[in-house]
Amino acid sequence: MPKNPIKISDTTFRDGHQSLMATRLRMEDMEPLLADMDAVGFHSMEVWGGATFDVTTRFLGEDPWERLRTFKRLLPKTPLSMLLRGQSLVGYRAYADDVVDAFVERSAEVGIDIFRVFDALNDPVNLEQAARAVKKSKKHLQMAVCYSLTEEGRLGGPIYNMEYYLGKVTDFEAMGADSICIKDMGGLLAPYDAFDLVTEIKKVTNVPLQLHCHYTSGMASMSVLKAMEAGVDIVDTCLAPLALRTAQPAVEPLLLTLGGTDRDPGLDIDRLLELGDMLEKVLPKYKSYLETPRSAVIDARVLKHQIPGGMASNLVSQLREADAIDRLDEVLEEISRTRKDLGYPPLVTPMSQMTGSQAVNNVLFGRYKMITGPVRDYVAGAYGKPPAAIDGDLVKLAMTDREPVTGRPADSLKPEMDEARESIKAMSDDIDDILIYALYPTTGLRFLKIKHGREPMPDEMKPDSDEPSRTEVVSAPSVPTVTPPRSPNARQFNVFVGGEHFQVEVDPIRPVRDALVSQVPIAAPSTAPSTGGLMAQAPAPSAQPELDADDAVIAAPIPGIVLRYVVEVGQHVSAGDAVVLLEAMKMENSLPSPIDGTVKALPATQGETVAKDAVLAIISP
Ligand code: CO
Repeated sequence: MPKNPIKISDTTFRDGHQSLMATRLRMEDMEPLLADMDAVGFHSMEVWGGATFDVTTRFLGEDPWERLRTFKRLLPKTPLSMLLRGQSLVGYRAYADDVVDAFVERSAEVGIDIFRVFDALNDPVNLEQAARAVKKSKKHLQMAVCYSLTEEGRLGGPIYNMEYYLGKVTDFEAMGADSICIKDMGGLLAPYDAFDLVTEIKKVTNVPLQLHCHYTSGMASMSVLKAMEAGVDIVDTCLAPLALRTAQPAVEPLLLTLGGTDRDPGLDIDRLLELGDMLEKVLPKYKSYLETPRSAVIDARVLKHQIPGGMASNLVSQLREADAIDRLDEVLEEISRTRKDLGYPPLVTPMSQMTGSQAVNNVLFGRYKMITGPVRDYVAGAYGKPPAAIDGDLVKLAMTDREPVTGRPADSLKPEMDEARESIKAMSDDIDDILIYALYPTTGLRFLKIKHGREPMPDEMKPDSDEPSRTEVVSAPSVPTVTPPRSPNARQFNVFVGGEHFQVEVDPIRPVRDALVSQVPIAAPSTAPSTGGLMAQAPAPSAQPELDADDAVIAAPIPGIVLRYVVEVGQHVSAGDAVVLLEAMKMENSLPSPIDGTVKALPATQGETVAKDAVLAIISP
């Protein structure tokens, strides 16, 4: 018997697919593996939290609570763990304490045994409430310290040095941590640093120590091995098909490495290989998510830009949506500069999204020309204490409409649960639904309407919609089943290819003139002078207002969701005044009026998904 077997936590169904395929694995594709996964003897399985809650409601039309219940039912022997973003829970902003309490209590009831709690800034004040709530639920409290580096390179330097990490571990133990996790979301932990870090942490605490690494830079398997040599108790791995790249190290080679040693975990390699085969069978239909533009499975540049896996895959898809994928390299460069301006926050949710989307804005629209709402809040102190000072110019630009937050950020938040309960009471009084709404008032509400049959499920949410088979059908050349009659417009052409000659007949499907006209926007028919007064008919809500030559248009700079208008039609606005809040890349962006004038039209509706360049407002001077 090995003296000190390493314990293995499997992350395939949370971090694995979050890192590699934007969290798109559907429950129906995980279910068939669960009985065998349960029999493996993992220390725990991470199956929930992080992005799973958001993605299930936003994109998959799946109830996240139902998903957790299914995991619990099919994994009765294996402790289930979730990743919790401290006061931000499974969202991207700090929630009030009553939301934290209700969410943790409900998650514990439904099936979470181990709560891995972290704060993006490693600020203990953001962990207090969640830690208390986990303790109250009598579940395992694991407190994670986010591993970050000051600039490129190794452990050390002015901010993220050994003293920094030992200080965090000591703080967390004092807060009641049942175990500690080193959370290396960017794959930045170098193997010898892992050895030193684990060695030193083991000297200051006796609580179990877990290592969570991402493979991104290519170091993770080595770092895990060195950490095990230094005495780490638990490590996170994935099944091979969803391991490596920006996900966790694979479990299979680790078992072979450790066979016959003191740290042999004694897991059944054959069963794991079979599970890998089963997973391989379901992944082809997610091919479009798994494909990357690069050949290398590692990204050594991560040592410079420090971008965690989930963020990198999001960034690529968001830039693609914004039609700006060619600017990826610029954005990666800009992320380093933006991070420095922000006081070197660790790049983990929500800091990674905030830094990433601000960097995208900086590249697309000019540096800090469009500052997202969350970045303004962060600068004001609403997310806690940054590891280092924020750039003075940025503070000036971002604080124009904010008051500085002092003390514990959540202290300034009023309770939110009653309002959430009230808002959806006509639809549901189920605590699961209330929490979905409290966490995601826009996309969560849309999901609840679908769940309760008030809105049909959009096609893109349906199970078959991400399958490449659909894409193939759509992109396949359409072959008419019946040969159409030849029209009088058909013309004969001689075609010469190299030395060969073909004679073809071309018959346009529509007359050329019609085809051209249909590409030109049809002028609105409302050119008759307004009848005015009592006789005027109310315009149809979708009627496109006339655009005068000197009108200014606010168009969506990137695709997004219209959160709300902050002005009304007819209202006077000054240049720079916020007109509409657009959620893009999960960040709230306030779009200002470009001119002094009167709001003439606000054509979008609240909650509407809009494409890039969609007209959101028209302002008349
Ligand atoms: Co992770």
